[in-house]
Amino acid sequence: MVVIRPGPVTVGGVALDNHLLLAAGVLGTTGASLARMLQLGAGGVVTKSIGPEPKDGHHGPCVAVLDDGLLNAMGLPNPSKDFIEELEPVAKKPVIASIFGGTPAEFARVARWFLDRVSGFELNLSCPHAEGYGAAIGTDPARVEACTRAVSTLGMPTWVKLTPNVTDITAIGKAAERGGASAIVAINTVKAMRISTGLQRPVLGNRYGGLSGSMIFPVAVRCVYELYEACKIPIIGCGGIATADNVVEMMMAGASAVEIGSAVRDDITIFETIKKDLYAKKGIPPEEIIGCAHA
Ligand SMILES: Cc1cc2nc3c(=O)[nH]c(=O)nc-3n(C[C@H](O)[C@H](O)[C@H](O)COP(=O)(O)O)c2cc1C
Repeated sequence: MVVIRPGPVTVGGVALDNHLLLAAGVLGTTGASLARMLQLGAGGVVTKSIGPEPKDGHHGPCVAVLDDGLLNAMGLPNPSKDFIEELEPVAKKPVIASIFGGTPAEFARVARWFLDRVSGFELNLSCPHAEGYGAAIGTDPARVEACTRAVSTLGMPTWVKLTPNVTDITAIGKAAERGGASAIVAINTVKAMRISTGLQRPVLGNRYGGLSGSMIFPVAVRCVYELYEACKIPIIGCGGIATADNVVEMMMAGASAVEIGSAVRDDITIFETIKKDLYAKKGIPPEEIIGCAHA
């Protein structure tokens, strides 16, 4: 297996302790769980998505555990501005605030609450199950550009997280780039559903949800590969990553770093496990691996 050289890395304007970040939302809204993941080897952490008003989320069931992944329709539950208090245990650490809004002005309002309290922002323009938010905006290049610009002009690193639920993800990536994004995160969950044959009803309270975990890894690799050919800004790969070999494959597709979500729920020691397999002092410099599949 390919191993890479360890060391701190700067991606999209954010200094990270290594190439592995906790993905947004999978561990809920507490600062304590973000601090724990940093202690357990994450090179950076992304918060739960925080919006302009407190939100309870969808009626349950909100999560279904499948053989090789998760299906969720949380509905972006979050405490809104009160989340600031949760950032205390992770002050001055590599923390990215995931934020959402329904308009550019709402994105800017939420971002201002967190200015100088975090290392950067990740715009959730990709959640597939929140009416008026997330992918409802993130499938329209003009709105993606406007929301990105509303935050990037505040002067902090601005990552934009994309939905795979579009015909051409590169059109959305290029819109984020035009709006001043410092990096693209690909991907959020894949819109999906299951039906209980016993109950003869959809499994999730919201009927539709987002699929994550190993099942979506090939979709994520394809999206990162396409974005690498179309965009100049760095890409952070996300979706189904569970092993060091998955990380290397994502890097070969074009990712400069990766985010890990569902696999953390299965094994909270995953960051250390992957680091043990991924890094060696005499490993290949990461720059030689990133995007090498395009040569
Ligand atoms: C329970 C759960 C909650 C999530 N909450 C958020 C969220 O608040 N914001 C966001 O951008 N993505 C959210 N996601 C998506 C993940 O950050 C990630 O993009 C997705 O799960 C794919 O990565 P994975 O296969 O490693 O989990 C959530 C995923 C799950 C499973």
